[in-house]
Amino acid sequence: MPLRNLLKIESMILRKVKSKVETLLLKGMPVSDTIRSGLEPRVKSLNEDGIVPQLAAIIIGDDPASQVYVRNKSRAFDKLDCKSHTYQLEADSNKQDVLALIDTLNHDEEVHGILIQLPLPGHLDSKTILHAVSPEKDVDGFHPENLGLLLEGNPIFIPCTPHGILEILKYYEICVSGRHAVIVGRSNIVGKPMFALLAQKFEMGNATVTICHTGTKDLTAHTKQADIIIAAAGSPNMITGDMIKAGVDIIDVGINRVNDDSEKGYKLIGDVNTESVMGIANSVTPVPGGVGPMTITMLLVNTVMSAEKNRELIACQS
Ligand code: GUN
Repeated sequence: MPLRNLLKIESMILRKVKSKVETLLLKGMPVSDTIRSGLEPRVKSLNEDGIVPQLAAIIIGDDPASQVYVRNKSRAFDKLDCKSHTYQLEADSNKQDVLALIDTLNHDEEVHGILIQLPLPGHLDSKTILHAVSPEKDVDGFHPENLGLLLEGNPIFIPCTPHGILEILKYYEICVSGRHAVIVGRSNIVGKPMFALLAQKFEMGNATVTICHTGTKDLTAHTKQADIIIAAAGSPNMITGDMIKAGVDIIDVGINRVNDDSEKGYKLIGDVNTESVMGIANSVTPVPGGVGPMTITMLLVNTVMSAEKNRELIACQS
């Protein structure tokens, strides 16, 4: 090959290498630590008034991922001098027993937050169970009253994972307003509340939002247009480098267990093939260590807020 052509190829390669962006890893821990530090004086003030923010977590059955999640919650609450009590029920518990426990907790003045760990065993209808939680103690924000307030733009309890995502975007100064956000996944836990938040006219919203799901015909056609991608489909490595445009900010919500030959027997991977988006995306949250640490932190935020609201209510009554 003539030298001239060789030089041309070299310069093309160099240009390609140079044009690769350095993709920023949006780690959750610094965001989580900052928020938890901000909670410390608030918890101290509550403690001084004889109030200990308390979460009651109900877990039905023995789903291993749920067990880990609930254990981590308890640890985080203990660390911040808050209480977390786990009610472990048998997998075959009937609806009446679960509703009776929720009713007791709804009336327990020392409990400020009630969490029903999802997914529930198949024989229990999650709507019936979630609707039974008092909206004033619904720290997950899953009760229709709280979801309605969120849609209206006046939320009290914002669902923890979407709330944590907003905090990550805010901490890393990622602009949302006026950009095109594509959400992949329409779950009640992430996709739908995320849509309500990002579309809302406020500081961390005001985006044009597209929501993709299993009925979407050409996912890539949408993700290629996205300035922000929220991957929350629960499908390992679903979003790859060839599905995105340069400069996109990616939030990976997936926490998928895939078997491997490690000591644990599995590893956690996201909905995004992180390696393939490096050098193309502006930023991406890692898995683990991205959105994961935020969910429990936002649960702490909601539980402390609930305890503060309760203190105000008692002060008004006396
Ligand atoms: N299961 C997976 N994520 C969540 C969550 O945010 N809240 C509850 N209650 N269950 C979950």
